[in-house]
Amino acid sequence: MIHDFLPTGGPPFGPHLLSVSSMSPEVLTGILDTAESFLEVGHQSVKKVPVLRGKTLVNLFYESSTRTRSSFEIAAKRLSADVINVTPSQSSVTKGESLIDTVRTIEALGADGVVIRHPSSGAPAFVADRVRCHVINGGDGCHQHPTQALLDLFTIRKRKGRIKGLTVAIVGDILHSRVARSNISTLTRMGAQVRLVAPPTLIPAGISSWPVTVFHRLEEGIAGCDVVMALRLQLERAAGGFIPSLSEYARLYGLNARILEKAASDPLVMHPGPVNRGVEISEEECFVKSSAILSQVEYGVSVRMAVLYLLMGGRSEESSMGVPSSETGGKE
Ligand code: CP
Repeated sequence: MIHDFLPTGGPPFGPHLLSVSSMSPEVLTGILDTAESFLEVGHQSVKKVPVLRGKTLVNLFYESSTRTRSSFEIAAKRLSADVINVTPSQSSVTKGESLIDTVRTIEALGADGVVIRHPSSGAPAFVADRVRCHVINGGDGCHQHPTQALLDLFTIRKRKGRIKGLTVAIVGDILHSRVARSNISTLTRMGAQVRLVAPPTLIPAGISSWPVTVFHRLEEGIAGCDVVMALRLQLERAAGGFIPSLSEYARLYGLNARILEKAASDPLVMHPGPVNRGVEISEEECFVKSSAILSQVEYGVSVRMAVLYLLMGGRSEESSMGVPSSETGGKE
């Protein structure tokens, strides 16, 4: 049975999922509970439920993705929605079509929701202000990756049985990480202590106002931690220019069995993927029992099913989305 978290007044976090930064513990818990009720669908012989039959989801990814895009596609299909993937490099974007014109075109084709990944922070929010369909942030620049944070929260709750009172170390390229920014919000709201561990060059300016403790030495930063989350060094965002060399970074900040002995007993080792093996985390540590990397991927499907269901399920399109008619083009 689907967890009863879908209020009649619409999605509990508004018509779009742009950020997790203002979600209350109650909303976060409701999403996790809804995801829990979708987990069993993935274990059925027919992995489908009809809750989004007749709805259409479009994946629009301006940056590469394996997990997020495939996971949204599988999640939507398990909910019986139709799914289209629009790849900007093979679309009219290459002819100069703007982001907003692209999304309005997708909307005119009948999309009920669009998942947007974009290199610019704020791009999904910009679109959400100008369209009627549901906009889901699939990762924008260094800003937010809401469903990654939700699936990380879900994975920790599944594997550790709770979130409140845990100490979580987030290790690595904090500067460029939308995953870190989203996780810091959700973890601290749910009562975890968050530590950031990174070289000074990979810590953002203004960190003193964040609800975290900062460490520069890995051994000290992960000491006694229940969860150690390594982040990908974002070489496509020039992270390589902030460290002396990959081998030096791996020596000082790479996770391996020896260094993980400093953490609490049986620590949960996480990584959002894709992993730069031998850089953020050693080859052998990637797939040992304490590693949650593939659980994160698996649980991501249920979490995205929950998000799609809460946004697009069980209600008719209403006019309460606050969309000015001039922005939507008004009448034809
Ligand atoms: N974690 C994550 O966002 O992975 P992808 O880039 O493969 O989607």
